[in-house]
Amino acid sequence: MLTATEHDILGRAREELKRAPHGLRKPIVERTAAALQCSVQTAYRKLGAAGFNSGRKQRKDAHTSVLPEDQLTLVAGVLRASLNKKGQRMPVRTALDMLHANRASAGQVPNALMAQYYAQRANPATGAGLIVTEATQISPEGQGYLDTPGLFNSAQVAGWRRVTDAVHAEGGRIVVQLWHVGRISHVSLQPGGVAPLSSTATPAKTKTFIAGGFAEVSTPRALRTDEIPGVVAQYRRAAELAIEAGFDGVEVHGANGYLIEQFLRDTINDRTDAYGGSIENRARFLIEVMQAVTGAIGGGRTGLRLSPVTPANDAGIDSQAQQLFEHVGRQLAPLKLAFVHVVEGATGGPRDNAPFDYAALRVAFGAPWMVNNGYTRTMALDAVASGGADLVAFGKPFISNPDLGRRLRENAPLNELRPALLYGGGAEGYTDYPFLGAAA
Ligand SMILES: Cc1cc2nc3c(=O)[nH]c(=O)nc-3n(C[C@H](O)[C@H](O)[C@H](O)COP(=O)(O)O)c2cc1C
Repeated sequence: MLTATEHDILGRAREELKRAPHGLRKPIVERTAAALQCSVQTAYRKLGAAGFNSGRKQRKDAHTSVLPEDQLTLVAGVLRASLNKKGQRMPVRTALDMLHANRASAGQVPNALMAQYYAQRANPATGAGLIVTEATQISPEGQGYLDTPGLFNSAQVAGWRRVTDAVHAEGGRIVVQLWHVGRISHVSLQPGGVAPLSSTATPAKTKTFIAGGFAEVSTPRALRTDEIPGVVAQYRRAAELAIEAGFDGVEVHGANGYLIEQFLRDTINDRTDAYGGSIENRARFLIEVMQAVTGAIGGGRTGLRLSPVTPANDAGIDSQAQQLFEHVGRQLAPLKLAFVHVVEGATGGPRDNAPFDYAALRVAFGAPWMVNNGYTRTMALDAVASGGADLVAFGKPFISNPDLGRRLRENAPLNELRPALLYGGGAEGYTDYPFLGAAA
């Protein structure tokens, strides 16, 4: 139990930490340790000096994980007090699972409004322990929707730098989601108006959003075998640019029916070369991408998102989904990834649409485990208390609640999402969701 004085000291220090820029945080913890007559290490633990080490060490040392270790203490510590009776703990680390919002400026460049949006959610004391950005195309061909941001040229690096600076000023941590849509695109979005690229020449039965509204996706062209290394190189280059833009790391988007799943799944991949047919062959593209990215920036700065059984974007479930993804996990385990981020069930839909043993997949990867899809506060608490997850990612609740971390800790009510304003547009439905205590 804390005495009233200790409680006051910690309360004041936490307030200071919330406002302090990175460089000034250590002295606050040291002062607190002196006031509490404990070691600096213990002061860290008691304070849960959220975001204290945010990114700086990781940028220098590619083998250190991007995950917010300190946030773990903060979040767990604060909640234990109020949830002791049930013996529950807060999600070890909350992650903001960002969502494409189609609000980039011309040239697929992140803008000031986006920087504001991310900064609002960045303070680890009130927002996310780790932000995963909206999906970001690694090349012009990787785009599939209007106005999504890119990360393949210097203007985009400069645009993202605004975002990462704003997030780091709040003490937050941010990784960018590296994305190639494959066949989920439209000729009007492709350079030269040509067919989108995929593992296959069969079109998906789904729509995308282009200038003028929704449209059926276009018929793709199957990548030639000799073109595949070039696409792998685009992932590597985007990862390098991510570090240049100030990101703490990247998350490779291997989910939701986009290019990587178009290679993985036997319901889509109809190739006869070394990238099609057997599980080993279909996994090859993803493995090469992960090797390239971790080779460039380190496993500790690289996460991976998967969605083993989602039907999103006309991705039929693989005939051997469990074997396929466990093979991927075993192959990628040596890369010592920062985290694996798994969408359980159908993205944004039923969590039990198809059987899948996620615990077995976790064993195959042996990496920090982030779960997502329809998590409520109670589900998140249970997932962590049962050891089922290391992190819980929240998508839609974080759009409508910039201070979701605080609301979850305090079990405060959540703002309602305004779904009609999710995509496109300006500040409305994006940066205007109120913080707790603010006048509505
Ligand atoms: C508006 C919107 C945009 C999304 N954009 C992305 C994205 O860019 N990358 C991604 O991996 N998932 C994306 N998703 C899926 C979410 O990340 C998440 O998996 C889904 O919303 C379920 O989690 P939740 O119940 O916490 O919202 C998007 C979902 C929505 C509703």
